Amino acid sequence: MHDRVALVTGGGSGIGHAAVLEFARRGAAVAVVDIALEAAERIAAELRAAGGRALAIRADVSIEADVRAMVSQTLAEFGRLDFAFNNAGILGPIGTPLHELDEPAWDRVLDTNLKSVWLSMKHEIAAMLDRGGGSIVNNASIVGLRAATLNPSYGASKHGVVGLTLAAASYYGDRDIRVNAVCPGVVLTSMTGAADAAPDSPSSRRIARAPLRRGAQAVEVARAAVWLCSDEASYLTGVALPVDGGLSVIA
Ligand SMILES: NC(=O)c1ccc[n+]([C@@H]2O[C@H](COP(=O)([O-])OP(=O)(O)OC[C@H]3O[C@@H](n4cnc5c(N)ncnc54)[C@H](O)[C@@H]3O)[C@@H](O)[C@H]2O)c1
Repeated sequence: MHDRVALVTGGGSGIGHAAVLEFARRGAAVAVVDIALEAAERIAAELRAAGGRALAIRADVSIEADVRAMVSQTLAEFGRLDFAFNNAGILGPIGTPLHELDEPAWDRVLDTNLKSVWLSMKHEIAAMLDRGGGSIVNNASIVGLRAATLNPSYGASKHGVVGLTLAAASYYGDRDIRVNAVCPGVVLTSMTGAADAAPDSPSSRRIARAPLRRGAQAVEVARAAVWLCSDEASYLTGVALPVDGGLSVIA
């Protein structure tokens, strides 16, 4: 990925952080985007200190002005955009059934997890069309393919991410833009950390059912996402790839 440019949203933590490191390891310049600027700045500074090219950008990816600026800052700094990993997201009110969910909570999850992916692709694809191609991976979830029994707004947002991925893949394929999604199961990040501490938590129960019997390390999802972005996956588009230790094959 030397001479190529990647952008990662939610790059300040967890899977996004691991993806930033993986893009950098492969030689790409990386725009590290996060609502938490300090985390993004620390990671970008570490990469620059190690001889890489990195830029920290603060953006709330649910706000179009921020997303437009994140892409234009990336272009201003690095001159092009080849790869995007739209990864930022929140878990939402786990354990609240939909008949008890209030409207602000629903809107927050859908705006952060789904509207953000539309906005990000809108501005990333415009930049990629100008240059003649590119590759995008969106971070959905295994509950974008299956029921999110205990977290209906989150599940709906992730089904939406898969749907948008397929729509974009089918529309932009002839412009040399590939669009895929990763669908992680349980990943051991700050998002699931608290839940995992309890032996009978939803995450722990999922881990117990997964054929590999463990949660993923963030890097295991990041590697799949960066590989899907890369030219090594040149004939893959419109794929929603489970990265779930086999969880989704269990009835
Ligand atoms: N951890 C899991 O088990 C798991 C499973 C399936 C899918 N995912 C998905 O993976 C993605 C990353 O999750 P993670 O586990 O690394 O969580 P994380 O909490 O460690 O990282 C999420 C990052 O997104 C950033 N972020 C949140 N809202 C934002 C916004 N509005 N604008 C910009 N940045 C924002 C946060 O500051 C944080 O740095 C999410 O989309 C999540 O839904 C996670």
